[in-house]
Amino acid sequence: MMNQDPLPLDWQPARIAERRRAFLSPALATFTAYRSPPVWRRGSGAYLWDAAGKRHLDGMAQNVCISVGYRHPGVDAAVRAQLDEIQHVTTVYAHPQPGHFAEELVARLPAGHDWVVHFVNSGAEAIDLAVLVARLHTGHFEVLTLRDAYHGMHFTAMAATGIGQAHQPLPPAPGFVNVIAPHPYRGLFGPEGAPYLDELSRAIGSGTSGALAAMIVEPTQGYGGIVEMPEGYLAGAAARVREAGGLFVVDEVQTGFCRTGSHFWGFEAHGVVPDVIVMSKGIGNGFPIAAMVTRREIAESMASRMFFNTYGSNPVSCAAGRAVLRALDEEGLQANAHACGAAFSAAFAALQERHSRIGDVRGRGMLRGVELVTDRRSRAPAVREAERMQELLRQAGVIVGLCGADHNVLKINPPLCVSVADIATLAAACDEALARL
Ligand SMILES: Cc1ncc(COP(=O)(O)O)c(C=O)c1O
Repeated sequence: MMNQDPLPLDWQPARIAERRRAFLSPALATFTAYRSPPVWRRGSGAYLWDAAGKRHLDGMAQNVCISVGYRHPGVDAAVRAQLDEIQHVTTVYAHPQPGHFAEELVARLPAGHDWVVHFVNSGAEAIDLAVLVARLHTGHFEVLTLRDAYHGMHFTAMAATGIGQAHQPLPPAPGFVNVIAPHPYRGLFGPEGAPYLDELSRAIGSGTSGALAAMIVEPTQGYGGIVEMPEGYLAGAAARVREAGGLFVVDEVQTGFCRTGSHFWGFEAHGVVPDVIVMSKGIGNGFPIAAMVTRREIAESMASRMFFNTYGSNPVSCAAGRAVLRALDEEGLQANAHACGAAFSAAFAALQERHSRIGDVRGRGMLRGVELVTDRRSRAPAVREAERMQELLRQAGVIVGLCGADHNVLKINPPLCVSVADIATLAAACDEALARL
């Protein structure tokens, strides 16, 4: 008889911290939410319970991964059914799940482009692949990315990321040119898109050979501070990059899968169809899967060489992803993100009138940022206050993140099954925390 007894788990927070220190790589503990990170034991819908049994409204969704909610019955049933048959089929064999999932993803993309899907394991891996395919297809090397962009931590993705903390003190992957990014609140050239497009042309002219492989853009910068690209910027950038022979790559890792409420994909709000789309996080509701999607003729440029990845298109993760798509549709979660986003805008506009610490409220749907400042005129980032507010909210049973170059922006992106009543709870908790700052 095989031993099926549950393996022991020590839930004492002090012991968890102790084992983490003793046995996990130190780098895994240097970037944590909160000085003393909570221990999550259970999740359901938009809620989390810690090891002591306290319930929290989850405004972070495990860094935007939980799209349709914790313990979603449809996702969990699809995963269990797949596990009951086989847990992994590597990419050199065949199984129906990846093909079905790819077909269902393509059905959600703009029609008429002959999209093909390359599954991988993480957002950074998908970014690496996007850069590789762009270089192979165009025969060019240089890639533009934006300041404050976050694209992940692999060697290539790290060089694409415009956040200093993400860089190691070593020569970075070559060929990346970082461009000044639009910012509606703090932008060097003001809130409109046009001056940043001029700057993009100048950057191509001065910082590159003029022959580009690609530009990578998040429609709304996530960790950069929930910075939505201004109207016309994406379309204008795509035109300039294509004129220089490059592909326009959109990073939908945070903005995809109905998160913005108005559309399924972030780029759809900007009147542009990208050449390459990178997706992850919400795609699997927490199961590790990501994808690089592009047109067939672009993907063909990789087909003559080996490109192997052991776990890409794992059938359990694909089963989860298919159930996510079905839940987004059947449960109207895009409309819900839109409605909760409207409730959020109204509630935080009222809070902004009462609390001078709120400098700006940004984002759309359920991808939101609340920027705290010490003084509205100077817009000096309220860094310590933001950290204190995050802690006060945690004590009140509400989890939010911090983002932005100065970590003074509250990052709020709950699972898309969150309710308008939850948004009222969140706003009330913020009201109280702001009063106590
Ligand atoms: C916009 C964006 N792109 C790429 C990544 C990298 O994804 P991963 O952490 O799965 O490598 C992230 C991760 O947070 C992200 O937010």
